[in-house]
Order: sequence, then C-alpha cells, then structure tokens
Amino acid sequence: MSHDAQAGRVLLVGAGPGPVDLMTVRAVRAVESAQALLYDALISDDAIALAPPGCVRIQTGKRAGRLSMHQDEINRLMLRLARKGLRVVRLKGGDPSIFGRVGEESAFLQGHGVPVEVVPGVTAACAAAAQFGFPLTHRGEARRVVFTTARLEAGALAGDWSAASDPEATMAIYMGGEVAGALSERMIAAGRSPDTPAVAVEQAGGVEARLYPCTLGTLAAALGETRGGPVLIVIGEVAAQARSAGDVLEELSRAVG
Ligand SMILES: C[S@@+](CC[C@H](N)C(=O)[O-])C[C@H]1O[C@@H](n2cnc3c(N)ncnc32)[C@H](O)[C@@H]1O
Repeated sequence: MSHDAQAGRVLLVGAGPGPVDLMTVRAVRAVESAQALLYDALISDDAIALAPPGCVRIQTGKRAGRLSMHQDEINRLMLRLARKGLRVVRLKGGDPSIFGRVGEESAFLQGHGVPVEVVPGVTAACAAAAQFGFPLTHRGEARRVVFTTARLEAGALAGDWSAASDPEATMAIYMGGEVAGALSERMIAAGRSPDTPAVAVEQAGGVEARLYPCTLGTLAAALGETRGGPVLIVIGEVAAQARSAGDVLEELSRAVG
C-alpha cells in the first residue's frame, strides 16, 4: 500500500440499494482502488469484497450485533486516514445525498483541508420503482416527488407535512416504517385521501425484495407484515401501478415471446 501525505482524499460513494450490479461503474472503481474502506450497515458483502487485498476495512454501521459508530467518530477516523495519505472510500447505501449525511461529512473534511469527491448511487426510491414497475412521476398524475423521512418528536410526527396534501406529489418516505400509523394519520389530517394508493417496499433492488401494496389508510397494517429489512414507503397515485416482481417477469417473458 503506497501512502502519500499529499494525496490523501475521501470519496463519499453511493453503493445503491444492495446488489453490486446496481452500483455505478465509478462506484465499483472507487471501491476497487480504496486503501481504506468505511462501510455502513446496509452495504452488501459483495460490495465490500470489491476492495483490494490490503485495504483497511472498517464497519461503521450497526451490523451483526455490533454498535454503530458516532458521526463525530466517523469524521475523525476519515480525517486521520486521509492525513496518512490514504485514498479513503466511505461507502453508503443508496445515494449519499439522500439521508446519507454527505453535507456534514463533506463540510467537516473540506474544513480540514481534505479533498472530497462524491460518487452518486441509485437511491432506494428509484430501485423500488424500477423493480416493481411503477414510476415516481407520471404525466398528469404526479408532477413532484418528495423525498422525506418520518420521525416522532414527543409522540408526534416532526416537521411540516403540508406538501403531503398535494395530490400530484409522490411521497417517498425513508426510515418511516416504525411510525407508519402516525404518518398516515398526519397525511390524512393534511388533506390526503385515505384511499390514496401506497406501497411499502422492503429490501428494494435485490432478490429478497418484497412489495406490500396498500392505501394511505391501511399503511400501518401493511407495515406490520414486513420482515425486519429496510423499508421504503411510497404514497401517491403512481403506487397504483406497482406490480409484484412475478407479474413484471411474466409480462417481460410474454413480451419477448
Ligand atoms: C439512512 S437512510 C439512507 C438512504 C440511502 N442513502 C438511499 O439513497 O437509499 C436508510 C433508509 O433508506 C431506506 N432504504 C435504504 N435501502 C433500502 C432498500 N434496499 N430497500 C428499501 N428501503 C431502503 C429505508 O427507509 C432505510 O431505513
């Protein structure tokens, strides 16, 4: 491993939703040339295996019973490794700019004079839509996509949910599985019909992916069926177009004869 104190840099890389064939070529090349690899909880073993022998591999997210590292610990670790002259790859699930703390990490590293490069990835919403045959926007039906997250603060859903009342907005909700009941109540209170089509997609992108079709009103019950994997919720008219993976494959085989 060659170290060059001048050349240390950090690449904040999106690994996509799981399978390595949903990584970009640039992301694969970044991991293949990493001298230090810091990876999050949802990163697949196949993606980690792309790192070359001799690359320092450090898990930063909760995985196999281990605890997550604190953000400031991760920041300091990236800085220390880059200052040793290493090419550091911070591999994150999906796209680093969507709930991936890319802004905080870039600001910290650049503030310490470390060059940063961001490599985009396929975010969970795009992977879910592609896999289950629905669009995120649709002419005349869905003119906007809102990428949002849902969390409780003092028992109530935090943040401004007025955008949720817009019937032409597709809501792509990250980290919302555990607050589905509060989420659906708040959106209905904001004026969205309880009959609005919705889906929950668990482990989007891979062979284990599961689709839970429902409506805004039945969202909490649908979430009760999930198996503990990462879940993305999509609410909006476009969700009515979602089809199971089996249906998508059947259509495909019919189309090719
Ligand atoms: C911290 S956020 C990271 C999002 C990621 N940067 C992205 O662009 O997909 C983690 C949340 O993203 C969603 N998520 C990530 N990967 C997923 C997947 N493969 N299937 C479904 N949801 C996923 C889940 O809501 C999960 O709780």
